Amino acid sequence: MRVLGIESSCDDTAAAVLRAPREILSNEVATQYDLHAAFGGVVPEIASRAHAERVTLVIERAMKTAGLGFDELDLIAVTHRPGLVGSLLVGVSAARALALAHDLPLVGVHHIEAHATSARAESPELQYPFVSLVASGGHTALYACRQVQEIELLGATVDDAAGECFDKVAVMLGLEQPGGPAVSKLAMDGDPKAIRFPRSRVKGERLAFSFSGLKTAVLYHLKGPGGQRDAPDRSDLEDSYADIAASFEMAAVDVLVKRTLEAVEAEGVEDLVIGGGVAANRVLRAELAARAPEGLRLHIPSIQLCADNAAMIALRGAELHAEGVVHDLDLDVLATGE
Ligand code: KG4
Ligand code: ZN
Repeated sequence: MRVLGIESSCDDTAAAVLRAPREILSNEVATQYDLHAAFGGVVPEIASRAHAERVTLVIERAMKTAGLGFDELDLIAVTHRPGLVGSLLVGVSAARALALAHDLPLVGVHHIEAHATSARAESPELQYPFVSLVASGGHTALYACRQVQEIELLGATVDDAAGECFDKVAVMLGLEQPGGPAVSKLAMDGDPKAIRFPRSRVKGERLAFSFSGLKTAVLYHLKGPGGQRDAPDRSDLEDSYADIAASFEMAAVDVLVKRTLEAVEAEGVEDLVIGGGVAANRVLRAELAARAPEGLRLHIPSIQLCADNAAMIALRGAELHAEGVVHDLDLDVLATGE
């Protein structure tokens, strides 16, 4: 079973070919980082136009790297939710056209569920059920992955995503983007116990996350209570920026680890998957390893599989198709994930 995966939900145009169940033959990504950098965030109009310009080329590159012709494919899998509607439409339109032209079955894939299950590409021993934490610049969510078609959202962020919070704190500390690696590097020279930043809970939602209070606490620490972003940093600060970075990182990681291990306990699983760009964080990895109950197996996909990519879409499409899931050629896109 050879599967072409297509991903265009946000600002990455991606295509990959997978020989099911888990051999990745190609995994191409065209990022748009440079197009949006000046605007401080992804601009939907620019994103969809860039997807439209690149999608054919990226798909052709994925096919060429895999050494396959379209007639040698067995399935097309495409992200159809959640995401920016204009961006999703480009990938889904390409997938529909290819499925029609080459008489191939089509499966629509939920982007975050694909993140949650992507570790199955590199961990053949990983079987359902497991718990998955997806933490990136766009999402922070905990999933109970009980069966291929039984994936339940246990909790998600009610405001900022974890990676977004790292990125915003990096701006406050005058560091480059993406902020996660920059904050984490600076934090290596700091004391994680120097400042007690808040660990927020969401009322009535045991496994949800909130990072905006933490972000504001860092801002107030730097600028004084009620501080404006453009106010000068306080000159009386005793803590170094490295201490602020380390204390912030520990607060963010503490919340991620606590909720994740609560989910593991509630679900009674023996396998835990961490995905998304924030999974690269060394303190997160160390804290999880130190605080995990004995016997819990931790699976962290490689960076290419953690970031937005189409191999995870092909993988998820293949496992859904193996259970009989097929979508019509009028497959629609949806902004929401629920
Ligand atoms: O999954 P990803 O590559 O892309 C999207 O979100 O689309 O995740 C990128 C996010 C950024 O917010 C980045 O700052 C964060 O992951 N990140 C990290 C680290 N490496 C990347 N956050 C904390 N620590 C890191 N080492
Ligand atoms: Zn993503």
